[in-house]
Amino acid sequence: MSQNCHKIKLNKFFFISFFCLLATFFFLSSGRNIKINQFTNYKLIDDSLSIRMENISLENLLVQLGDSNYPHSLKKYDKEKYNIGKDLINNGRTIIKGKKTKRISTFFVCIDCHNIGREFSLLESESSLDRLNFAKNNFIPYLPGSTFYGVYNRTSFYNDDYVKKYGDLVNKASNNLNEAIQVCAKYCSSGRYLEAWELEAIMHYFKGNELKISDLDLNDEILLDIKNIANLDSNQKNHLKNKVNSFYRQFYSATFLPAMDINIRKYGEGGNVQNGKYIYNKSCLHCHANSRVTYLNLGNDKLSAKMFEKNLTNYSDKSLYQIIRYGTYPKAGRKQYMPLYTKEKMSDDQINDLVSYIKKLSNK
Ligand code: HEC
Ligand code: HEC
Repeated sequence: MSQNCHKIKLNKFFFISFFCLLATFFFLSSGRNIKINQFTNYKLIDDSLSIRMENISLENLLVQLGDSNYPHSLKKYDKEKYNIGKDLINNGRTIIKGKKTKRISTFFVCIDCHNIGREFSLLESESSLDRLNFAKNNFIPYLPGSTFYGVYNRTSFYNDDYVKKYGDLVNKASNNLNEAIQVCAKYCSSGRYLEAWELEAIMHYFKGNELKISDLDLNDEILLDIKNIANLDSNQKNHLKNKVNSFYRQFYSATFLPAMDINIRKYGEGGNVQNGKYIYNKSCLHCHANSRVTYLNLGNDKLSAKMFEKNLTNYSDKSLYQIIRYGTYPKAGRKQYMPLYTKEKMSDDQINDLVSYIKKLSNK
């Protein structure tokens, strides 16, 4: 009898737990269904897309909210052209019918100075601290140019001090992505202007990597507004557009700084050695390891470090404080040059981090 009772209790226990499990399962899956339905049923923005609302292009959304298409807008991208663009960006040339095409530059490829993937966890950020942390977490290079990720969705290029200092050279490019690419192919790369098919291919590559709604960290309130887009008046649309635009950058700021005065340099004191090591390896050595794009061969060795250490207290081209802020200039007969780092791409604190690492390396 007592055994039986025990059995019943056990059965009851199983029954209750099973029921609970079932209930939890239904609860969870129904929750998920609601979320999926919210997006899959949504077709107001673009009827031709049966995919989730979140996968709709940002440009498409902005047009629904009253913007015109970008001047460089492409309706859709062609995968073949995308691949050619990718090849040009990574290798500086492509192969057509078994033949290598003419290099854009003898000295550089685009990815010497630009990443192609995301550089910030929050796309609205342009803080050098966030950018370095993201680079470290994802083990990507830390470069003087802005990433190509999201470049299709920018409306202003070579901003602030680039316009002030380079004037006419970049004026035309300042609100025209096609021109911006051309300026960089010819001047940043010490190369040549692109032919029409090359420019088009690169634009298809950029289009293929344009921002989608799902790339932005939009909150539920905004997503709901987007879902209700058909019911919004033009004021509300404008308001929503401004909100959406605050979740990514339409341009990157560019502040040129002078070489820091020798009297206020901290010479590595209080610097973060780990950050400095990362910057040295994933920024400087990106170009200088094995003399890749320059005669100046650098490595994680005492000799390189000594060279920098000797020049910390001056304003020569071998001083970290100087070279980072001014870079070098292309000359006739020697067209490889080093681009400067703006404040946004390398902060004074980060230079101090780099110096602290260099000092550690030279005292090894
Ligand atoms: C030697 C370094 C270097 C090389 C090589 C280079 N760029 Fe740049 N590029 C820069 C710098 C520096 C800027 C300044 C603005 C920025 O990126 O924030 C820039 C800006 C740009 C911009 C505007 C970005 C913006 O948001 O303002 C585009 C587009 C661009 N480059 C495309 C290219 C392409 C395409 C190539 C290859 C054909 C290339 N670049 C090669 C250094 C370089
Ligand atoms: C995009 C590629 C690139 C990056 C990134 C880069 N450099 Fe350079 N650097 C060059 C080129 C090219 C030259 C020009 C030297 C030449 O004529 O070959 C140069 C020149 C220099 C010189 C001057 C050499 C001289 O004789 O005057 C120093 C010093 C230097 N780089 C240090 C650095 C440091 C430190 C970093 C990291 C903060 C760095 N470079 C990042 C490409 C780069």
